[in-house]
Amino acid sequence: MSDALVSLQRRGTAAVITLDRPDRMNALSREALALLGRAARDAIADAGVRVIVLTGSGDKAFSAGADLKERRGMSDDDVREQLGRYRSEIGVIDQSPKPVVAAINGVALGGGLELALACDLRVAAPSAVIGLPETTLGIIPAAGGTQRLARIVGEARAKELILLGRRLTAAEGLAWGLVNRVSPPDTPVLEDTLHFVEPILNGAPIAQASALAAIDASYDVGLARGLELEQVYYDACLRSADRRIALEAFAQKKKPNFEGR
Ligand code: COA
Repeated sequence: MSDALVSLQRRGTAAVITLDRPDRMNALSREALALLGRAARDAIADAGVRVIVLTGSGDKAFSAGADLKERRGMSDDDVREQLGRYRSEIGVIDQSPKPVVAAINGVALGGGLELALACDLRVAAPSAVIGLPETTLGIIPAAGGTQRLARIVGEARAKELILLGRRLTAAEGLAWGLVNRVSPPDTPVLEDTLHFVEPILNGAPIAQASALAAIDASYDVGLARGLELEQVYYDACLRSADRRIALEAFAQKKKPNFEGR
């Protein structure tokens, strides 16, 4: 699939979704958001896809967030509707059973960072700049930013980023635990990300989906309930052929060839 604003391409068993509006810093207009959601649903539904990578075209922006030019012409109700769209479309990425990784190739501001926060992992180019400047625009991050950022970096740092409208460098993001990895200067972040996720591509899909589900489900519950949920998700792995394949491969001192069943 390739629409003007968002493209979906296969790189082996990875699906690469690219926001493609470089003239507007890959800002998320109504249309771009809808196409992003569609691409994510298609990638999730494609049985041949093991991991989804989100990135932006060009070397300046991952995404500068809400399309501020489009928003100027919106009524209050239009904006409410757009926030609903953010929740549903970014929600698809957040709840993906397949790992989703943001390859942050430039600025990730506002909704752009919120999109990256909904991903499971974040890799940043050394030149990336990340921030949630909404309060400087008289609003708050409302595509999950106040919720997901605090869960990732803790309350104090989330408040610092949001209240000060601070923009972090990739190195600062790494130090905060907001990005998992900063790419080497001589390697494009998309290529570096595809290399970084190779262990996922070669790993056991049921175990990976179960691990994601167990971690994600535990945020909203106490430890005791979380430990119960862990048992439930472990059971899905226990019943899988891949668990037997791994034990057999270990006995034969070989690498397992997982089958995803
Ligand atoms: N929505 C719509 N258009 C945007 C945009 C956005 N969020 N961010 C940038 N653009 C447009 C600019 O208006 C400009 O278009 P123009 O050439 O028609 O004037 C073009 O993208 C290039 O941006 P420019 O500001 O000239 O580039 P820069 O490298 O100097 O700065 C940014 C890039 C992203 C740092 C800066 O544009 C910016 O701060 N954008 C707003 C980001 C933001 O606050 N997002 C949160 C929204 S809640």
